Amino acid sequence: MKILVLYDSLHGNTERIAKSIFKEIENKGNNKCISVENITLDDLKDLDLLIVGSPTHGGTAKPSLLEFLKSIPNDLLTNMKVASFDTRFLEKDLKWALKLLVKTIGYAAPKISKILESKGAKSIIEPEGFIVKDTKGPIADGELERAREWGKTLSNL
Ligand SMILES: Cc1cc2nc3c(=O)[nH]c(=O)nc-3n(C[C@H](O)[C@H](O)[C@H](O)COP(=O)(O)O)c2cc1C
Repeated sequence: MKILVLYDSLHGNTERIAKSIFKEIENKGNNKCISVENITLDDLKDLDLLIVGSPTHGGTAKPSLLEFLKSIPNDLLTNMKVASFDTRFLEKDLKWALKLLVKTIGYAAPKISKILESKGAKSIIEPEGFIVKDTKGPIADGELERAREWGKTLSNL
């Protein structure tokens, strides 16, 4: 099994979620958890599963991650199993105007999945969101544990 968790993060919360997802995966073979700043196309070769995550910025992923995903040659992703996650605000905690905006523009993970699928990858699970309480965090209670469980589920699919 060769699994890669690729993440982007501005304030460190998505990085912590990525590392928590990786906890149940790291001992299962030749697996890595890498930030987009350190990724190379070589890291994507012969993967059994690629998991990609980003903070939600304006309803989509962080520009550096989007740029990298768009630069991946299609043949590297054809038929590769993929999953996506993001960090985001909890809709019900937002004031009405922001709630409406966030509802309209959506979140990063579905956009990540769309890009990967457009290059021939196969999503094996619905895009997942993990909640932060404010722009710089903290991560909401229980979300690190939920991320760890999500990683475990993924590694068994
Ligand atoms: C420029 C910017 C735009 C953002 N836009 C959204 C948004 O559209 N929806 C949302 O739920 N959160 C939004 N947020 C909050 C991020 O979800 C939050 O900062 C992020 O999850 C923190 O992750 P990080 O520590 O990995 O950067 C935004 C944050 C920034 C800085």
